[in-house]
Amino acid sequence: MRIAVMGTGYVGLVTGATFAAAGHDVVCLDILPERVAALNAGECPIFEPGLPELLKAGLTSGKLRGSGEMTAEIATADLTFVCVGTPSREDGSMDMTQVKSAAATIGNALGRDEREHVIVVKSTVLPRTTEELVLPQVLEHSGRNRASLGFAMNPEFLREGTAVPDALNPDRVVIGAADELALTQLRELYGNVKCPILECDPRTAEMVKYASNAFLAAKVSYANEISNLCEAWGINFATVAEGMGLDDRISPRFLRAGAGFGGSCFPKDVKALLAAAATEKLPAAMLDATLAVNESQPLLLVEWARDALGSLKGRRVALLGLAFKPDTDDVREARAVIVAHALLGEEASVIGCDPQAAANFGALCNIEIAASAEAALDDADCAILMTEWPEYATLAPATFKEHMARPLVLDGRCALDAKALRDAGIEYRAIGLGKSE
Ligand code: UDX
Repeated sequence: MRIAVMGTGYVGLVTGATFAAAGHDVVCLDILPERVAALNAGECPIFEPGLPELLKAGLTSGKLRGSGEMTAEIATADLTFVCVGTPSREDGSMDMTQVKSAAATIGNALGRDEREHVIVVKSTVLPRTTEELVLPQVLEHSGRNRASLGFAMNPEFLREGTAVPDALNPDRVVIGAADELALTQLRELYGNVKCPILECDPRTAEMVKYASNAFLAAKVSYANEISNLCEAWGINFATVAEGMGLDDRISPRFLRAGAGFGGSCFPKDVKALLAAAATEKLPAAMLDATLAVNESQPLLLVEWARDALGSLKGRRVALLGLAFKPDTDDVREARAVIVAHALLGEEASVIGCDPQAAANFGALCNIEIAASAEAALDDADCAILMTEWPEYATLAPATFKEHMARPLVLDGRCALDAKALRDAGIEYRAIGLGKSE
């Protein structure tokens, strides 16, 4: 199939490269000429393990290319995937400007030519957006008859850091088709995928994505709330989570306690759903609580540092890890931002390190950046593990002892070896771990 993909962010690039790997002719479209040129030169604009290789394979086979020629490319494609951004506004609601403009561009490109074309929304959009915003925009700008067009919503569930394996081997495909044309084309496109395929209408597909993300976010906040009780009672929450997870109705996944969830999806999607519920004048206590726990959870680490050090003023605090999770350079909604701001607010001197995300973090928060964990720990009064990068989670107790002024280690991801650290005489406290565990 000839596939046009609008937007070359995480979703667009991974989607395009995956369809190219399956043998389709894919063109990734972007309005930024430098982004298109970089893509065609084989450069991957984002840090995502496996993506540079997948993009290069597509470029080499000739199945994948970048282009800025929206009109010509869309007009000759069979399907156009909308993978543009949907940023949050101040009030948590979503800014749909890019989706609306993508739909207008598609409409203008298709014009009155009655060749069949299917428009598939992959951007995360609130229920009814495909039917009530994208569809009318395309019809209005093309002036076309509805019958020659297909519309569908096909949500993307990939995780940063594992986006490529997630896209190549999805655990589900949701096809929210508005008509037979879209359903037939998407059935064919996903014909060889070995996972369950759910067929539904567009608004249901849109809701599956929100409900999934909000549920996982709620699961993490629930784990955090219970883990705080465990901490107070000297119980190891990881063992509790293991016991809970043995019940296959619960599953052990997304039950890791820690400093909370960040990233481009969970916080934004929960906020958008909350804003949408408010518009509908419906209560959304679970969504509200999910966010409230997630905002207060990272501050626990600051409280512990203050408890141990008396005052944070003038204290040197090392943040190990700045990305919202390992294997990404993404710092959007990273809990390290909240912790760094709170520490700076108490006049601590903050020094951070991250194997990939230090530069991005610098744009959000003005802290000192160290080139290595050891350099960050030098003369520190307290170290806080914010991201469980393997190189930080496996730091030897001797490293903390040799470099720090006071070996106080607070573990925001419950990832370090508690016994080894405590045996070495390090003052160690971890979210979800009783003080003496
Ligand atoms: C998420 C969804 O998993 C994915 O399906 C969707 O398409 C996009 O949003 P992502 O944001 O990349 O993916 O990361 P994910 O691995 O889900 O982690 C999100 C956050 O939750 C991270 O900050 C992570 O540290 C935190 N988390 C996750 C926990 O604190 N505990 C857990 O048990 C799991």
